Amino acid sequence: MTKMTGNPFYARGPVEPQYFANRRELLQFFIQNVEDASQNKNTKPDNITILGNWGIGKTSTLLKFQDIIHNDKKDAINVFSVLFPLKPSVCESADVFTYSLLDAISKQYSISIPLKDRIGAVIKEEAKIWEQWKLESISLSPELRRKSRKLDLVDALTRLWSKLENKGIDLVVIMIDDIHYMLTEGWSGSLYDLRTDIQALATGGTKYLFIITGPKFIYPSMHEMAEPFTRLFERFELNNFDLAGTREAITKPLRIAGIHLEISDDVIAQIHNITDGHPYFIAGMMRDILRIHEKETLTLYDFEQIKPRLIEHIARTKFEDDYNKATDSEKQILLNCAQLKNKIFSPSEIESKSRSKLLERLANKELLVKLERGKYSLYHPLFKEYLNNISQ
Ligand SMILES: Nc1ncnc2c1ncn2[C@@H]1O[C@H](COP(=O)(O)OP(=O)(O)OP(=O)(O)O)[C@@H](O)[C@H]1O
Ligand SMILES: [Mg+2]
Repeated sequence: MTKMTGNPFYARGPVEPQYFANRRELLQFFIQNVEDASQNKNTKPDNITILGNWGIGKTSTLLKFQDIIHNDKKDAINVFSVLFPLKPSVCESADVFTYSLLDAISKQYSISIPLKDRIGAVIKEEAKIWEQWKLESISLSPELRRKSRKLDLVDALTRLWSKLENKGIDLVVIMIDDIHYMLTEGWSGSLYDLRTDIQALATGGTKYLFIITGPKFIYPSMHEMAEPFTRLFERFELNNFDLAGTREAITKPLRIAGIHLEISDDVIAQIHNITDGHPYFIAGMMRDILRIHEKETLTLYDFEQIKPRLIEHIARTKFEDDYNKATDSEKQILLNCAQLKNKIFSPSEIESKSRSKLLERLANKELLVKLERGKYSLYHPLFKEYLNNISQ
């Protein structure tokens, strides 16, 4: 029974790679790209941008990538990878960014077991040099720092590449999660700098595959600020699952974890409708279902009985926090949006003098989604329902 095998659904962090569902096209592209670049000496890898809004599975996808190269493909390719989650403090200056990335490489790299021993020593050796650079750079006054040798990302990564290549590595994958911090908190020109470095590494004969992720709203400004930046990457969007994707997200973990729970098709369709195919809500709902429901089948009738509890729990864990992210005047706008009949609306339907500013801010907080032609929608239909409930 479910209680004995544990609960494979978890919504508070990325999904375990073995339970990862859907995203076939992106995984295919990644695998092909990595195989081509690592098996042919002269093939440069295509960098990848993954754009998707809150909780849609960006970090999960990066972890799945790592699992593919270090487990599924470990006998076919020799790849070194690192997952670097950006945070605002890291984007303060180019030096801090460079050092933090190098630090992540030395501490959080992943590699398949057979390569582990050979690479460990190389990384340790380089990490000493990076540490020395860092100490020099922070102990100097700003004027001296400008004159002295800079902590240089291209130099460091070029050296690293030649050492790793000597040890039989075919490709290095660097994943930078949540790149939008660079845009919103970064030193001026940060994206240009990164672009220039990535380009220099590619033309310098090293084999780095960069993968970056961020919310969709950053794309237009990325494009504007650093057009060549967007040209340097193959772009993918993560959207809500379709019905088949929702089905896989529900059934795959049950099957792999060996849980005997038969969920009827009409229940899967209901879950799909309620969650709108959003992976976070699917995971949260399934976690609760396993907790609450003890029989080995789940019919639509059973589901209808527990549905209010499921929805109430989502509201408590997610929507209250969301709502409280908004200021008082933004809250007013949210309530107003929720009362509109249509899911997608234009700013002119909102009654407020400063509506364009407020709508923009709510989009940046990811409570509204900005669509084409200046239209908006609330980020999830369940959030709309929640707002309508509290305004009653
Ligand atoms: N492909 C997937 N298969 C199954 N579940 C998924 C998948 N992608 C995401 N999830 C579920 O959605 C939740 C959110 O995923 P994740 O943390 O990767 O999203 P994110 O886009 O990185 O979010 P954030 O914007 O908060 O960084 C996870 O808890 C997981 O349960
Ligand atoms: Mg994430």
